[in-house]
Amino acid sequence: MQTPIDMSQEQTPAGTDRRRYRIATIDGDGIGPEVCQSAVAVLREACGSGWLDFEALDGGAGQYTRTGEVLPAATETVCRSADAILHGAAGLPGVTYADGTEVGNDLHLMLRSRLDLYANVRPIKLYPGVDGPLKRWSPGQIDYVIVRENTEGLYASRGAGINLRGEVVTDSLVMTRKGVERVARFSFALSRQRNGAPRDGKRRLTVCDKANILRSYAFFRAVTTEVSAEFSDVELDYAYADAITVHMLRKPDFYDIIVAENMFGDIISDLGAGTIGGLGMAPSAEVGDQYGLFQGAHGSAPDIAGQDAANPFATILSGVMMLRWLAQQHADPRLLAAADRIDAAVAQVLEDGRSVPRDIGGTARCSEVTHAVCRALK
Ligand code: IPM
Ligand code: MN
Repeated sequence: MQTPIDMSQEQTPAGTDRRRYRIATIDGDGIGPEVCQSAVAVLREACGSGWLDFEALDGGAGQYTRTGEVLPAATETVCRSADAILHGAAGLPGVTYADGTEVGNDLHLMLRSRLDLYANVRPIKLYPGVDGPLKRWSPGQIDYVIVRENTEGLYASRGAGINLRGEVVTDSLVMTRKGVERVARFSFALSRQRNGAPRDGKRRLTVCDKANILRSYAFFRAVTTEVSAEFSDVELDYAYADAITVHMLRKPDFYDIIVAENMFGDIISDLGAGTIGGLGMAPSAEVGDQYGLFQGAHGSAPDIAGQDAANPFATILSGVMMLRWLAQQHADPRLLAAADRIDAAVAQVLEDGRSVPRDIGGTARCSEVTHAVCRALK
């Protein structure tokens, strides 16, 4: 089983692996190029020219309008052979299929399905210097991770729903024992790598579902509960998806790890991001047993594309998650040290307050934020 992203400072065993790493990058659409190239600049600054080789690939809605392929075969081939994938964002309004769904999203959805990226890891962490909306909570008190099952649930019906004569339309919610077991094990193991919930330091996994209403969610809860027997050191907690939206606002310090089905995970992770400064502050790691895709949890924000106005922190912090994941995969402590340096540089820039992006109250342009993080790294 894939060992989860090391979110703590825990040292990986001193590895002998000193090889270089091939990083496939997919800029994508909208602000995607700006934020992806920002993260690449920061990664180059932190890792020098010695460890990472980047290869820029095509993909997204713009690519589809040019060639008819949202995920070119050549892009998928390189993604399969690279050590990790770093992505900006994808999707353009108006670029839709005949059924009304958006084309650009298929870049992620195809990669998630074809590379079996079953755990979508979404840290919700309030950084010093970020003026979040939950005024009574300070940095250190909001620090949990949402693990979104990333390959099935309601998303299993993407492109497969029924539309009968434009009168009856259905999408099915699909859960498999394998799918629930593996994301549950991943989530319990991730809790073991952290320091517990801010409130009480307890390792806690909260299962987010609607087991009171639907059999599929009752199944999700039952299977996760079965797996908990293997992790007696991690407290098991349950919360219905509606109730947890209130708890995430009123007692965010209670949470350590929250595991949820695909659609619920998509929704509550945006709420979580809203509590720590917005989607511009929300990184993600989409990992399976073999591959890892790292991207901000935000979209392509076409309204501000090309204006150097985007907040690159979500993608920069996704790069931190990528280095930590690679460090674990290859027992290479160099990458863990680089990840910690970038994380500290981001915190320093935020606390300094002179290079803060607009979406969190500042006036800094994307390029200015990038330069500030690179300067903090020097
Ligand atoms: C996310 C996004 C994606 C999703 C879209 C862009 C496919 O909202 O990663 O949260 O729906 O999962
Ligand atoms: Mn989403």
